[in-house]
Amino acid sequence: RIAYVNGRYTVHADAAVHIEDRGYQFADGVYEVCEIARGHIIDSTRHLERLDRSLRELKIASPMARQPLLTVMREVIRRNMVENGLVYLQVTRGVAPRDHAFPANTKPSLVVTAKRIDPAGGNKRAESGIKVITVAENRWERVDIKSVGLLPNVLAKQQAKEAGAQEAWFVDPDGTVKEGASTNAWIITKDGVLVTRPADSGILRGVTRTTVLDIIKKHGLSVEERPFTVEEAYDAREAFITSATTLVTPVVTINDRSIANGHPGSIASSLRQAFFDIAE
Ligand code: PDD
Repeated sequence: RIAYVNGRYTVHADAAVHIEDRGYQFADGVYEVCEIARGHIIDSTRHLERLDRSLRELKIASPMARQPLLTVMREVIRRNMVENGLVYLQVTRGVAPRDHAFPANTKPSLVVTAKRIDPAGGNKRAESGIKVITVAENRWERVDIKSVGLLPNVLAKQQAKEAGAQEAWFVDPDGTVKEGASTNAWIITKDGVLVTRPADSGILRGVTRTTVLDIIKKHGLSVEERPFTVEEAYDAREAFITSATTLVTPVVTINDRSIANGHPGSIASSLRQAFFDIAE
C-alpha cells in the first residue's frame, strides 16, 4: 500500500509524521472520509467544500488547492488499485514545539490514504439491519467541524461494540437524538415522514445526509428536518443511519427495542439502492 504524506508518495507501512505534529499532541486537525465506488470518489466536491470549511473554522491554512488535492486523492486511489473502498484525508496545523497557542509560520501536514473494502460486508449489514444504543451527549459544541478530536466518539463506539451493537446515538438531556458516533441518524414516522435533525443544531452536516435529502426531494417523499426523541424512534416505522462508510444502513434495534418488525424497512432499503444508482 502507498500513502501520501506532505508531498511524497511512500510505502504505507513506513509512512509517518513527526512526533511534534499538532494532530498527535492536541488533535489540532481535521479530516474527511470519502466513499469510492467502482473507481469513482463519491461526492468529492461536497467533501472538499466541508474540508475547507473545517479548516477555515479552525484557522488552519489550506495545505493545497482543491484541484491538486483531488489529483493527489485520485493518485493514491490509483496506486492502491482501489475500485471500492475509502479515501482518507487528514490535515493538521503542522509540526512545532509543543505550545497550546498557534505556532507562527508552520506548514499544515497533509496525509492521504486509501483502502479497499469489499462492498459485500456493508451490503450484508444493510440486509440484516444494525443495532444501535443511545449514550448521553458529552461532546463539545463544535461538532459541526470534522475535527480529529474524536475521543467521545471512540468511547461511544466501543460501548456500542461491547453491547453487541454497531452504532451509538448521542442523546441530549431533552431526549432528542443528535447523531451517531460516526453517522447521521434518521427515522421514518408511522405516517411515512422522514425525519432527521437540522444540520445547524449540534451535528456534523453529513455529505451522505445532504445527498439523501436530495434523493428524498427528487422522489417527492415527505421530509422534516427537526429533532426527534428516542421515544419517537422506538415508535418509528423505520430507522436508518447515513455516512460515507455505511451509506444508507437500516437500524432494526435501538437499546434492545425492535423497530417496526425488527427487519430493515422498505424505504431505507430503496434509499440505499437509489444512492447506488446516482453513484454510478
Ligand atoms: N464519519 N456524524 C459524524 C459524527 C461523523 O463522524 C460522520 C462521518 C457523519 C456522516 O458524514 P458523511 O455522510 O459526510 O460521511 C456524521 C466518518 C465516515 C468517519 O469518521 O469515519
